[in-house]
Amino acid sequence: MTVTIVMGAQWGDEGKGKAIDYLARDADFVARFNGGNNAGHTVINPLGEFKIHLVPSGIFYPRARCLIGGGVVIDPRVLIEEIEILRAAKIRVAKRLFVSPRAHLILPYHKILDGLYEQAKGAGATGTTRRGIGPAFADKASYNGIRWHDVADEKIFAEKLGVQVALKNKIITALGGAPVSGDEIFADYRKYYATLKPFIVEVYPFIAKGLRAKKNFLLEQAQGALLDPDWGTYPFVTGATTLTSAATAGLGIPPRAVNRVVAVAKAYTTRVGGGPLPTEILDASDPAQHALQEVAVTTGRIRRGGWFDAEIVRFSTQVNGATEIFLTKLDILSQFDEIKIATGYRWNGKRVGYADLSAEQLAHAEPVYRAVRGWRADITGARQFADLPARAQQYVETIEKLVGVPVKWVSVGPEREATIKR
Ligand code: GDP
Ligand code: IMO
Ligand code: MG
Repeated sequence: MTVTIVMGAQWGDEGKGKAIDYLARDADFVARFNGGNNAGHTVINPLGEFKIHLVPSGIFYPRARCLIGGGVVIDPRVLIEEIEILRAAKIRVAKRLFVSPRAHLILPYHKILDGLYEQAKGAGATGTTRRGIGPAFADKASYNGIRWHDVADEKIFAEKLGVQVALKNKIITALGGAPVSGDEIFADYRKYYATLKPFIVEVYPFIAKGLRAKKNFLLEQAQGALLDPDWGTYPFVTGATTLTSAATAGLGIPPRAVNRVVAVAKAYTTRVGGGPLPTEILDASDPAQHALQEVAVTTGRIRRGGWFDAEIVRFSTQVNGATEIFLTKLDILSQFDEIKIATGYRWNGKRVGYADLSAEQLAHAEPVYRAVRGWRADITGARQFADLPARAQQYVETIEKLVGVPVKWVSVGPEREATIKR
């Protein structure tokens, strides 16, 4: 049996979807345990190209059962749409996808509040996905959340929703927003519940029996370690923990059952939204700026780009107990004559580490770079480590040394097969 957590080692979008799709072949269970549809995981395999927000990325293997744990917040409309997209692609979801009734729901007022808070903060805004994630987790923490368990019972749902709509409309109107209609939400969410009812099943028995039967679990983290509210660049983070420890509460898996932690890291760094990105390439005349920028899966915004930051990845792999690295997007670096790697920072004249600094201080930290020569060759066809040019091999080895965790997989393209296992 293996219980493997696949985590993002940077600010999200490291290629977790690709890694899960590659690693899930032998999985009996693939499970999401944190976040919500702020996540956007891209999977490109023989069945097509998919951008998924809630359904675990293991859904493409018929033998895998896919669980969405109670730690995930759910926007039911997004989940219904996703199930429809999968069905249209002839991927079976019935009796394979199970959603915890403990999962809290994202309601229309969460999305409105997300936008209003962002607007009110102006230049200090987090740059959220505006999917209502922060307000939904805030309601969970302040005992104001609504779960599937509640929607299942008309009377309980009407009561709880009535209280919340009255509360939320006061805040919404005070901030200049338009109030929501409790009746409309009630009708819509009861309809969503009816559609999703076959999928809403307590997932704990799968976990408990699966662990006893020594099944293989692949646990799919959303976001990245640096978006964690405690250890990330607060307040430029997401609404609930993104560390590997979230798997414990989010699914009911005891920590000692976890035997592997795969850290997915991009061969450079990207970040979408606000907050410090020390290695960001800010000079618009530098061709590297455009080369390392990407388009975000969930919001279509530009992902800011920068060089690989070994200090960040060293910290996030340590704090999460990573046992291996799945390094992605090495092919993107093939276009450079020279590639930079940040090995640490200088702040106020001193050498400091990530954990020494607040987000505001990190924004003014100066990365200490090591420059290496690029390989300038197409590597997308490489399937063995030895197929890579010597300088690409050295780049991987340098990362491994600086981070202190072995790189077990190198991804050289977005497709499932564009993967090197060492
Ligand atoms: P996730 O949120 O961690 O699953 O990552 P995203 O799907 O949001 O973003 C990763 C992007 O990189 C997607 O467009 C993937 O298709 C793409 N991708 C993943 N691995 C590779 C790779 O090795 N090479 C290239 N060129 N693209 C990759
Ligand atoms: P995946 O799983 C990248 C970022 C947002 C914003 C901050 C807070 O695809 O890696 P939120 O909507 O969560 O309140 O936004 O977190 N963010 C992500 N960035 N990938 C993600 O998920 C993200 N999920 C949230 O851009 O900066
Ligand atoms: Mg993503």
